[in-house]
Amino acid sequence: GKLSDLLPPLRVAVTGAAGQIGYQLVTRIASGEMLGKNQPIHLSCIETPQGMKALRGVVMELEDCAFPLLKSVSATDQVDKGFADADFAILVGAKPRGPGMERRDLLASNAQIFAEQGRALNKVASREVRVLVVGNPANTNALVAAANAPDIWAEQITAMSRLDQNRAITQLALKMHCDVAEVERVIIWGNHSTTQYPDLSHALVRGEWIRPRIDEDWYRNEFIPRIQKRGAEVIEARGASSAASAANGAIDHMRDLWLGAGNKWLSMSVPSDGSYGIDACLWYSVPCLCPGAHFRRILELPVDEFSASMMERTRKELIEERDAVRHLLPRDYERII
Ligand code: NAD
Ligand code: LMR
Repeated sequence: GKLSDLLPPLRVAVTGAAGQIGYQLVTRIASGEMLGKNQPIHLSCIETPQGMKALRGVVMELEDCAFPLLKSVSATDQVDKGFADADFAILVGAKPRGPGMERRDLLASNAQIFAEQGRALNKVASREVRVLVVGNPANTNALVAAANAPDIWAEQITAMSRLDQNRAITQLALKMHCDVAEVERVIIWGNHSTTQYPDLSHALVRGEWIRPRIDEDWYRNEFIPRIQKRGAEVIEARGASSAASAANGAIDHMRDLWLGAGNKWLSMSVPSDGSYGIDACLWYSVPCLCPGAHFRRILELPVDEFSASMMERTRKELIEERDAVRHLLPRDYERII
């Protein structure tokens, strides 16, 4: 936009900024794809001490892009500095899984990171901060961060299911021989894991409800498992976990959350308020509307027997993950909801 149209700058912090996803993410944020082409930003990159050398290279590259919206870039291995006054924090920094691992196998090594980062956000971030958790296992890491950030409203902290939603939209479009833009109301329920439920019960193609036309065998035995296992399929092929598509999901999620997305149904892992029989205070993916600056859960959708059993299975897994990180949750953490 014109110089005169520019908004006051906002501060965006990214952890793991020198990693695979971080490297994809920071250029897209700095070019204005996340917060809009009239939104100047200050970018704060956070890494581990060992990651600082590579991060210096990333900062050089950001400088070398001469992005008009990028007012400043900083690099640090101190979370209290990195999150200071952050309006947005994207928590990517964590170990990825390798072949043969489930995402929950990362709990032991990664969840501690999110307890520390929750405490830092609580102390130094903007009181309005929007936090997106990408590092796995993302849902339970979001719970750990939020539980350790009692002064930040739990709903300001969301975890990413947008990559799963994007995967599901494309697989449906391929099956229906339509454009991805013609697919609506695909839902991801539950955990970003192999128990997630990619749900086509409400899906529209070219505005038409297509559930009655969906081949049941394809739906249950091809579509659902493909989405559930897509991350592993990418790891197997690339020898490393998804990065460009993960960064893209994070951009989509934050852009729609912040700038609004009209009447689109968007799946986000948000703290459960007890709706759909999901225990309060689990970060469980549900369909949401984004009117701008925040999300609203889409409530009271009819749930058939098959959907109910799928939603229950992923709920149980999130309970097990929560119980595995009890030691990182303050005793009275449920009052954050
Ligand atoms: P990566 O190893 O390439 O990069 C991670 C970076 O984070 C590294 O540079 C590392 O130094 C840094 N890091 C580690 N601990 C940190 C900490 N405490 N503070 C700051 N930085 C830290 O991994 P990646 O491929 O970029 O993946 C990052 C995470 O995202 C993994 O946990 C991966 O499983 C997850 N992921 C999630 C989704 C999703 O849909 N939610 C999709 C893809 C990947
Ligand atoms: C993905 O879904 O691609 C990521 O969560 C990485 C992984 O471990 O599958």
